[in-house]
Amino acid sequence: MHLRVIILAAGKGKRMASEIPKVMHTLAGVPLLQRVYNAATALNPYSIQIVYGNGRGLIRKSFEHLEAEWVHQEEQLGTGHAVLQALPGCNDEDRVLILYGDVPLLSSQTLRNLLEITPVDSIGLLVANVTDPFGLGRIVRDPAGRIMGIVEERDADEAHRRIKEINTGILVCPGKLLKQKLPNLKPHNNQKELYLTDLIALAVAENIAVKTVCASSEHEVRGVNDLWQLGELERWYQEQQAKQLSLAGVRVLDPRRLDLRGDEIKIAADVTLDVNVILEGKTSIGKHSKIGANCVIKDTVIGEHVTILPNTVIEGAIIQQGCQVGPFARLRQGTELAEDAKVGNFVETKKIKLGVGSKASHLTYLGDATIGAHVNIGAGTITCNYDGVNKWETIIRDGAFIGSNTSLVAPVEIGENATIGAGSTVSNQVPANQLTLARARQQTIEGWVRPDKQDKIKT
Ligand code: UD1
Ligand code: CA
Repeated sequence: MHLRVIILAAGKGKRMASEIPKVMHTLAGVPLLQRVYNAATALNPYSIQIVYGNGRGLIRKSFEHLEAEWVHQEEQLGTGHAVLQALPGCNDEDRVLILYGDVPLLSSQTLRNLLEITPVDSIGLLVANVTDPFGLGRIVRDPAGRIMGIVEERDADEAHRRIKEINTGILVCPGKLLKQKLPNLKPHNNQKELYLTDLIALAVAENIAVKTVCASSEHEVRGVNDLWQLGELERWYQEQQAKQLSLAGVRVLDPRRLDLRGDEIKIAADVTLDVNVILEGKTSIGKHSKIGANCVIKDTVIGEHVTILPNTVIEGAIIQQGCQVGPFARLRQGTELAEDAKVGNFVETKKIKLGVGSKASHLTYLGDATIGAHVNIGAGTITCNYDGVNKWETIIRDGAFIGSNTSLVAPVEIGENATIGAGSTVSNQVPANQLTLARARQQTIEGWVRPDKQDKIKT
């Protein structure tokens, strides 16, 4: 017996009112389909099939990296029809778990529960009790509480509409049963579709056991049908993340104004996150660091006791212990700041190493540079790293002092403890321990007289 997963992702997603296929929209930075796929792979299934249809080129290309079999559903004739397309890939003795590509927050733990509680020869249906069941399939039970079937909102009468127990869409079923029953589905409903949900009534009619398992949280099983629902789910999820962080010792100044996008964000205790912080991708922050308001930080490693001042944008950087960055700094890909380095306002960096205790405090561009320890980079300094065709490197050795408004025309090397006078354009090697000036010498013209004001020339 193998566990096979079928993910349904072919629906038109009309209610999204978007050109982007529904399952490509992201929740907390991760596409909906990727989230469902992640939950599925955690179960270690024998195979995963993804039923796709709409936006076919786009979806397959964006999710090329998934280890899954792609099954095309030519026409979207309903969830039952979608499963039928994938059934040739399943055997009678397999256990088939059906997931919906638009239910993104389902945990693998809940799925494991469903698989464990359901006897292998029965159908297991994941249900939930919700406060507002509008738009969802309702679980209809007999007076003894046994499940009879599922009624969709559009086909529901007054009494059905009052039911708050809903179908999450997620179910596990023996392959054999799906192969026997699904060909008998009829499009006898408001949408004229083949509903997977009718499988339940078909099974009950033949006394096949249907086990219902209740999900622990109604949010976890929420489907996304339009962008408002996605927005609401995003906010709920972000608040959960803020709560988890807070309970783990992170000071989140406003849980409603923090966004974590991605599954690989690690924040140590006693970190302070001010309002409107966005953390993305693979990012970690060490103990006692402080992130100021309005910072966007992506794929970055931040050490302990680091201060990032407000309005700083960082991507692909490594920032060691004790550094101070910002306000209004922009650290780009490949920036590495050694311990206690300082990057101040209106400084842009790209692919540089800034050594221990070195400072670039204001108005500077540093690109493709290796800068030693205790270097001082004056305001307005620029590495001229690009000649229009190639990028060149600047090397600045320990203890150098670069005067304000210096242009360092790469490739160029500045020796240890060298001093460069302000306003220099440096294009040759600068020796260690000396003062180097590369600017026009200041002159005073003796006896020069300021001209008198003349009448304007009349035309
Ligand atoms: C479905 C369920 C409903 C349940 C709700 C939970 C049915 C008939 N209804 O309703 O009982 O409460 O989910 O969120 O199943 N899809 C295909 N091919 C199709 C049609 C749909 O692959 O031809 C996919 C969609 O991409 C989506 C999933 O199946 O991922 C569910 O389809 P959707 O149209 O969103 O169903 P709901 O109206 O949400
Ligand atoms: Ca849906």
